[in-house]
Amino acid sequence: MNAVPKTGEAHALPTEERRGVYRAIHERRDVRSQFLPDQIPDQILARLLDAAHHAPSVGFMQPWNFIVIRDRGVRGAVRDAFLQERVRAAALYDEPRRSQFLALKLEGILDAPLNLCVACDPTRDGPHVLGRSAVPETDVYSTCCAVQNFWLAARAEGIGVGWVSILQSVELKRILEIPAPVIAVAYLCVGYVSDFSDTPDLERAGWRTRVSLADLVFEDRWGRQEARVRTAFAGMGGAP
Ligand SMILES: Cc1cc2nc3c(=O)[nH]c(=O)nc-3n(C[C@H](O)[C@H](O)[C@H](O)COP(=O)(O)O)c2cc1C
Repeated sequence: MNAVPKTGEAHALPTEERRGVYRAIHERRDVRSQFLPDQIPDQILARLLDAAHHAPSVGFMQPWNFIVIRDRGVRGAVRDAFLQERVRAAALYDEPRRSQFLALKLEGILDAPLNLCVACDPTRDGPHVLGRSAVPETDVYSTCCAVQNFWLAARAEGIGVGWVSILQSVELKRILEIPAPVIAVAYLCVGYVSDFSDTPDLERAGWRTRVSLADLVFEDRWGRQEARVRTAFAGMGGAP
């Protein structure tokens, strides 16, 4: 007689594969400093983009486009736009936070051999997209899911990704010749790395630490937390 799987486990991945998924999630980092100049082979880049293309999307609209950027002139123009916005962003902080912000390395636009802009075309499936009627931003949410798939698949391949959002959209769209209705959702620096840090760069720099999961989980209503729930989530984590 065949062994009957425990409830809910029938479709679980084998333990090693499950571990791999969680490992990629936990060991994914936003990379800015450790890029190596080695080119990413087209076949591997295709795999990463295909992972992105298999993200969930509202109404299955697949609103994304991917602009693969290697040209140094284009990357230089984006870096200039970053430097301008960095000055503007720094002015939003008071000292000593401002100096701390300016000391952070927040992009690897010219260090990484490849940059990727992930764009969202809200017109992709006509004006009425299944599931988008109440929340128009769901097309952008879908595009963020594609970014995350790309990021995790890249980690699994030993490739680092860094998201640069310190950029004015208008500037980025002008440089990349992105047409008016299309949204430039993410600008990513992509490349092999010398190492992946154990902790986020911002944590190591003393900017911010990870919030406890137990503080974030509510039950049934916003803000409701029973001691039992806090205890259950306080020690969460680890391998399956
Ligand atoms: C939408 C978004 C925008 C981000 N923009 C920047 C950025 O402009 N520069 C930067 O250095 N990191 C940026 N990051 C990376 C975060 O700082 C990073 O994810 C966070 O500090 C946690 O670190 P980890 O990704 O290594 O876990 C961005 C991340 C996201 C999701």
